[in-house]
Amino acid sequence: MANFEIPSIDIRYGQYNGTKTNSYYFWYYLKELYDWREKTGLIPNIKKIDSITIQVDIGTRVEAIKEILLMAAYDYLYTFENEHYVTSVLEYKKDLQVPAILIREPKGDKQRDIFALFNTAAENRKGSLKRYIGESYLVSDIDDVFNIQNEAGTRFFTNTVQGSKKDGLRWIETQTSIYTQNTVRYVQYYNNQTFNINTDTIVEETTETLNEFASIKEELESAGINELLLPIDHIATRIFHQDREDAILEIVKLTHHYPWGAYGIDEMDSSTNPTRNVYHMAEKYSPAKVFTAGNTGDFLQFIAQKPNPTEVFCINFGRSLHHIAYDIKEDEETAPDNHNIDKVINFMTKKGKTSPGGLTGSRAEGLRQIFMKRSELTGWVTEYVERFEGFHGFFTRKNVAFLTEAAGKDEGLRF
Ligand SMILES: [Fe+2]
Repeated sequence: MANFEIPSIDIRYGQYNGTKTNSYYFWYYLKELYDWREKTGLIPNIKKIDSITIQVDIGTRVEAIKEILLMAAYDYLYTFENEHYVTSVLEYKKDLQVPAILIREPKGDKQRDIFALFNTAAENRKGSLKRYIGESYLVSDIDDVFNIQNEAGTRFFTNTVQGSKKDGLRWIETQTSIYTQNTVRYVQYYNNQTFNINTDTIVEETTETLNEFASIKEELESAGINELLLPIDHIATRIFHQDREDAILEIVKLTHHYPWGAYGIDEMDSSTNPTRNVYHMAEKYSPAKVFTAGNTGDFLQFIAQKPNPTEVFCINFGRSLHHIAYDIKEDEETAPDNHNIDKVINFMTKKGKTSPGGLTGSRAEGLRQIFMKRSELTGWVTEYVERFEGFHGFFTRKNVAFLTEAAGKDEGLRF
């Protein structure tokens, strides 16, 4: 960095929104990363998010699938295995370009798994293997992406690209980020962009299990809920306050995202930092990545005297995914409690899926949203969000403070 003048904010992918300021370091390296991504050809090589992967505890995969089938309009596709994991694929059948959800279960040997180590360091995850692993990004030339990142010092789990053209896909996965504890996987397909897995790795679920999956879907259909549930809108990760700028810069280095803005939420002593894809394609095809960070170190709370649920979350659960948000189909209703999202919540409540804080927001505010109770199976919170009349944001300031507080209650945080 040559000097300490504030560089002009680089808005080549769109304006920067919000109230939270960034340092010289952030703006300097953001511009450098943008230039590097374009010069090396990383952009437009990275196309979109192709799937997300969640790891669950041994013996809980089928129950986790059932929960996601109930709470999202995804369908069970199939299950495959390799030496270390059994993985089930859920896809959004109505639009196959939407990212799939992969649910993987380790086969055993807890000590081997890198997330066993991370979870041991997090008070509320000790002894568990459940973790959000990260996203897979569809690329047009995986060898180029690997070479570009390798030369830029990005660390991968393997020295070479895995898989083969014969098997229909090749991929490589970064080592776990020290800022987010997530990985980034790059994948290239060779036959019509589908999960082409060797048929001898397919695991057949029992007829009873398949019938259970089908009956969950039938119930959603007959209640008219399936059509209201849209694909993933955003993926929200909680990080420590000191990592905020580095976590954002890191996702810029690794993917096709750009920082869309940063909103300070004083009541919760935190900020919310959405990043979006540079192609401006709809979120359902390549969900936004949102980072939430505290403003003040936990050890200083005795002076700050403000609740800081994000910092405490990171201490209790480790830096990790906090929630997955699904879009809800917009309606024409004007009554405050008769929106599609209210219908979805009524249905979920009857099925035992509750919310610690309830719904917030309205048509007049642009969106209505809710955090559901943290899942014991996946470890994540499901958010539903219904937007009205072209509202383009992820929250209103009022809503995000309300939601952050509600989530804090759910997690038994100490204040
Ligand atoms: Fe959210």
